[in-house]
Amino acid sequence: MNATSARAELVTLLQMAYSGERAAAYAYLGHRRSLRRPKRADDREMLRLVLLDEIRHRRAVRRLLHVLDSAPDPARERKMRRIGLTIGAFCQVGGWYAPMYGAGKLERGNIVEYEVAARLAHLAGHPGMVDELLELAEVEWDHERLFRTSAASHRLWWVSPKWPETEAREHIRSSFDAFLSGDEPEPALRWNPLR
Ligand SMILES: [Fe+2]
Ligand SMILES: [Fe+2]
Repeated sequence: MNATSARAELVTLLQMAYSGERAAAYAYLGHRRSLRRPKRADDREMLRLVLLDEIRHRRAVRRLLHVLDSAPDPARERKMRRIGLTIGAFCQVGGWYAPMYGAGKLERGNIVEYEVAARLAHLAGHPGMVDELLELAEVEWDHERLFRTSAASHRLWWVSPKWPETEAREHIRSSFDAFLSGDEPEPALRWNPLR
């Protein structure tokens, strides 16, 4: 892939990630509000911390878009706001399990999204972005683990279809190094957004 098309793909991917973070933030806010019972205090605190991460992520991605002389896509922003609010509202009536399960699955996609973004940044001639993008992937890895663990504590987990297991956290860096040295078996440049 040449630098020009890598840059174009990176911009699209970052615009998607930026608005995806918005949807996640609204959804987690709604989910958090739905957990009123005292025994859910730990979940509420977990969601508060994840929410803060997503807000930080939005700021970081916006900065990267700016460096690429680009900006968020207003249509996608509106769409993802609607989706986030809808999921958040559904959390008020949908029970505890579905939002935890859905969040885990979504976060799994986010890891890959930022890993692909790091590879595209390298190919587009922006090596300075790589570390920050891999760090974003690592935080999404932490989120996936939190939601997966939480969902797995519910009896419905055993009958729910599972998304692919994540590799160890270190794999995010080691597979990027393999990509740099040309040893990555199949350059992971495809993402499969659920959005
Ligand atoms: Fe995020
Ligand atoms: Fe996340």
